[in-house]
Amino acid sequence: MALTPAMQNEINRRRTFAIISHPDAGKTTLTEKFLLYGGAITLAGAVKGKKNSRHAVSDWMEIEKQRGISVTSSVMQFQYEGFCINILDTPGHQDFSEDTYRTLMAADSAVMVIDASKGVEAQTRKLFKVCVMRHIPIFTFINKMDREARNPYDLLDEIEYELGIKTYPMNWPIGCGRDFKGVYDREKKEILAFTLNGGQREVEATEASLDDASMQERLGEELYQTLRDDVELLDGAGSEFDLEQVQKGQLSPVFFGSALTNFGVEPFLESFLQLTSSPLPRQAEDGVVDPFDPGFSAFVFKIQANMNKAHRDRIAFMRICSGRFEKGMEVLHVQGGRKMKLSQPQQMMAQSREIIEEAYAGDIIGVFDPGIFSIGDTVCSPGMKVKFEGIPTFAPEFFCRVQQKDTMKRKQFVKGIAQIAQEGAIQIFHDVGSGLEEVIVGVVGTLQFDVFKYRMENEYNVEIRMENLPYQYIRWIDNADIDLKKLNLTSDTKKVQDMKDRYLLLFANEWSIRWAQEHNPTLELAEFSR
Ligand code: G4P
Repeated sequence: MALTPAMQNEINRRRTFAIISHPDAGKTTLTEKFLLYGGAITLAGAVKGKKNSRHAVSDWMEIEKQRGISVTSSVMQFQYEGFCINILDTPGHQDFSEDTYRTLMAADSAVMVIDASKGVEAQTRKLFKVCVMRHIPIFTFINKMDREARNPYDLLDEIEYELGIKTYPMNWPIGCGRDFKGVYDREKKEILAFTLNGGQREVEATEASLDDASMQERLGEELYQTLRDDVELLDGAGSEFDLEQVQKGQLSPVFFGSALTNFGVEPFLESFLQLTSSPLPRQAEDGVVDPFDPGFSAFVFKIQANMNKAHRDRIAFMRICSGRFEKGMEVLHVQGGRKMKLSQPQQMMAQSREIIEEAYAGDIIGVFDPGIFSIGDTVCSPGMKVKFEGIPTFAPEFFCRVQQKDTMKRKQFVKGIAQIAQEGAIQIFHDVGSGLEEVIVGVVGTLQFDVFKYRMENEYNVEIRMENLPYQYIRWIDNADIDLKKLNLTSDTKKVQDMKDRYLLLFANEWSIRWAQEHNPTLELAEFSR
C-alpha cells in the first residue's frame, strides 16, 4: 500500500530533536516554554516541580520519582503552527554521554542549551562532543541573558574551540543582566527589545530597526553604539550563513535569549523549525531507508525498566524511520526472527502517557517489552527486510566488582543487574567460566555507579558492595578459538567474559596492552564489541 498524500503530509510536518545541556543551564525551562507555545501545557511550572538538590545524582533520583510525568520522561510530543514536534530529553551530565549518544541516534537534530554566564562547562564537554560526533545539525541557545553573562564573542569562541564546530550568531544580545535590552535579529535587521514593566518582565517584545531613533533613546547611547559596532563587525566578518554546513553538523546557528523571562524563545523555535528538516532517511545494512517508504520500520534506541514502579514494566523506545504505525499491526522483530504485535504502544504528551492509535516516521513510541528487545534492534512490516545499523557501545573506562550483601537475595541481584545492563545503563562482565554471583561492572562515567547502586537498592531491593578495580582499558578478543591459558600477559591484566560469553581483557594501562600485543603476535584485540 502506498502512502496517501495525507500520510505524507503527516511525515513532512514532523520535527524530531534532542535537547542537550549541562545541569541547570535551563533545558527544562526552555522545553516548558516550547510546550507553552504549543498549547500542550497552560501554566509555566506545570512540567516540573522545584528540584530539591542541585547535585547531578540526586537530580537523577528526583527524575526517577517524577518519571512519566516530568519533562525528563525521555520524549514528548507537541504541536506548534502545523508542526508535530518530538523532543527527546537527554541526561545533563557527561557521565551519561553514552545514553545521550543513543538518544541522539533517534534525533534528526539537537538543541544545545548553554548558560551565558558559564559557557561550555568541563563536566559537559564530553557530552557536547558526543553531539558533534553524530554529525547532526546542532542549534545553540545561549540562555540566561537576563543575568550577568560572559562576553558573547568569548562564548562563541569557546564553543568553536571546545567542540570544533563553527558558529553563526543568528541574533546578537544587547547588554546583559540588569542592562539586558534585547537582541538584534541579523536576518530581519531588527531589534527585538526586551520590556521591563515595573520590575515585571513582559513577554512581548518591541520590534524596530537599528536606525529607529526611538531605539537609540531606549537602549541608551553606550549600548546603542556598541550594538552598531558589533553588527558592523559581525556583518563585516564576512562569514555567510550556510544551511548546507548546518545540515552536516559543521556550523551551529546560535541564538541568545532568556528562557525564564520568555525572551527570544519563540523566535528561536520558529527559526529552528524552518531550518531543520522533516525526518531524515536512515542507514540500514542493505542501503538507505526513506521515511516516506510505505513500509513501517523502526529501531529500539532506549530501554527503561520500572517506568512505573507499581507495574514493574519495561518500556522499549523506538524511533519510527519509515511509514506509518498502526495499533495492533503485525510487525517483524528482525533480531528475534519473530512476528509479533507491539503491545500498549504509547507516546508521552507533555504530562501524560497515552496509548496511541497511530504514529508516523519521525515519531518515538514506547512499547511494553517482555524482555525480548535489545538496544539497536529493528522492527518492521513483515516482508520489508530491513536491518538498521547497530548503535555502538562506548568502551567503559571505570570498573568495579559488585557483590550482594545478603546472599539470600541472589535472584533479585541477578535480575536487577541483568536488567540494568540490558538497558545499557552499565556493562557487565564476569570471571571466565563463572556465573553472575560476582560481577564486574564497567561504566563510562562514575556517576553511573551511583545510579546503579541506587536502582539496585530501590528498584530491586538488594544491598550491594562495590569495590573499585584498577582497570582502565577494555579489549575484546576477536580470535575465534583462543586458548586463554596460553596467553602471555602482565600480572595486572584480567581475563573476563561479557554477557554473550565473549572473551575480553581488562588492562590497567596502555603499557599492558602493548605487552599483550607484542608477546602474543596472533592475538586480535578489538576496542568495540561486534
Ligand atoms: P536544567 O533543566 O537545564 O537543569 O535547568 P532548569 O530549566 O531547571 O533551570 C535551572 C535554573 O535556572 C532554574 O532556577 C531556572 O528557573 C533558572 N533559569 C532557567 N532559565 C533562566 C533564564 O533565562 N534566566 C534566569 N535568570 N534563570 C533561568 P532554580 O531556582 O534553580 O530552579 P527552580 O527552583 O526554579 O526549579
